[in-house]
Amino acid sequence: MEKKIYIETYGCQMNFSDSEIVASIITEKNYTSADKAEDADIIFLNTCSIRENAEQKVFNRLKQLQHLRKSKPGLVLGVLGCMAERLKSSLLEEEEMGMRVDMVVGPDSYRDLPQLLLDVESGQKAVNVILSSEETYADITPVRYASNGVSAFISIMRGCENFCTYCVVPFTRGKERSRKPESIINEARDLFGQGYREITLLGQNVNSYHWKNEESGAAWTFPQLMEAVASIDPALRIRFATSHPKDISEELLQVIASYNNICKAIHLPAQSGSSSVLKNMNRKYTREEYLSRILAIRSIVPECAVSTDIIAGFCGETQDDHLLTLSLMREVGFDFAYMFKYSERPGTLAAKKLEDDVPEEVKSKRLQEIIDLQNELSLKSNQGDVGKVFEVLVERTSKKSEKRVSGRNSQNKVVVFDNNTGLKPGDYAMVKITGCSSATLQGERTEG
Ligand code: SAH
Ligand code: SF4
Ligand code: F3S
Repeated sequence: MEKKIYIETYGCQMNFSDSEIVASIITEKNYTSADKAEDADIIFLNTCSIRENAEQKVFNRLKQLQHLRKSKPGLVLGVLGCMAERLKSSLLEEEEMGMRVDMVVGPDSYRDLPQLLLDVESGQKAVNVILSSEETYADITPVRYASNGVSAFISIMRGCENFCTYCVVPFTRGKERSRKPESIINEARDLFGQGYREITLLGQNVNSYHWKNEESGAAWTFPQLMEAVASIDPALRIRFATSHPKDISEELLQVIASYNNICKAIHLPAQSGSSSVLKNMNRKYTREEYLSRILAIRSIVPECAVSTDIIAGFCGETQDDHLLTLSLMREVGFDFAYMFKYSERPGTLAAKKLEDDVPEEVKSKRLQEIIDLQNELSLKSNQGDVGKVFEVLVERTSKKSEKRVSGRNSQNKVVVFDNNTGLKPGDYAMVKITGCSSATLQGERTEG
């Protein structure tokens, strides 16, 4: 009988993209997918280590899943992804963990999954957490098992060598490596042929993408790759994430400006508005340099939305540093932000060399001020859109009402509007914005 497999994914878009690669590797080997954990013979949690609470969530889930072993003695529980890489075979120590895990497989070892599953079936515990400097899974066609059929992710590079002092990713994902351009362009073209209308090119640092053809010596940079993908069809939208402020070039901004189908939205994590905190974070730019990137965006791609990530309460952050973060947010007027409290990660440079000295209450208070300000900025940004007309790519019918549809505009803002003309996911519509909240735009369909 075919075994059923269920994959649950935590963390960033790269992890979601990896789960599609895992599904592809596994389903080629006679495993089928289950809709929920309770129905599966094999459960994989593809995990995230970025903050302590991300790991805590996975530990809680692993503990909760143990009861399924009673009705299914052969159940295989595997930890994949960043926690597998960070915690390695210690996850198999039943006594230490207070639960049982059967497999631990790091992000570069997914090709080994069918063999590891055989090892587990023969009664062994299975581990492979070897990081690679070459693996990009370029030849594997991801199985888009949780897709809306409209938007898809394509990983174009893996790993990170920036070593921001707070960050665990360089340790869990290893060396930076780029995927062969032809395989990326072919995947995008296939997706368009299948009806997909939006792809997001993914990497921890997409703009350091580079590929060199060993025979011809021809080199590809990220702007060139973007142009090639954008040229597939004007009806295929292109997004990308995430960009590091240190290498968002004018060349890239020119490419974004010149293609209608390259979305006018840049996610540019600032982390802090204080140059001294940025130095301690090893972000490799100052407040002024960050702001000069924003000026470049505003002058070359004026209609571009800019979003960011902010960390509250990093080591040594003073009240003045925090006020500099708030003033940076105001000065840029971010359209959207992901905001976090600093969480010390074992093994990082910050954990080794810097003191996690901002008290928990102060971190919480600063985070709340950052969130409140961002809500105000997001609302202001959305209010500025009222009266404008945007091209919206329809993604789904609205959760609240069948007759409402929702999609996103080029700036990545969610737009909800009435569907009285039979629009389907994957269709484009021109929508005039008539109202908003801080989270969404509301509008009505118009001719142009
Ligand atoms: N590669 C991306 C970000 C990946 S992690 C980049 O460099 O922009 C996503 C976000 O998580 C980071 O931008 C940062 O804001 C946050 N983050 C990373 N490590 C963290 C930590 N130890 N504590 C709190 N937030 C953290
Ligand atoms: Fe982490 Fe910095 Fe790399 Fe982003 S650039 S993944 S924050 S080390
Ligand atoms: Fe988390 Fe790993 Fe992504 S730590 S954010 S899943 S790269």
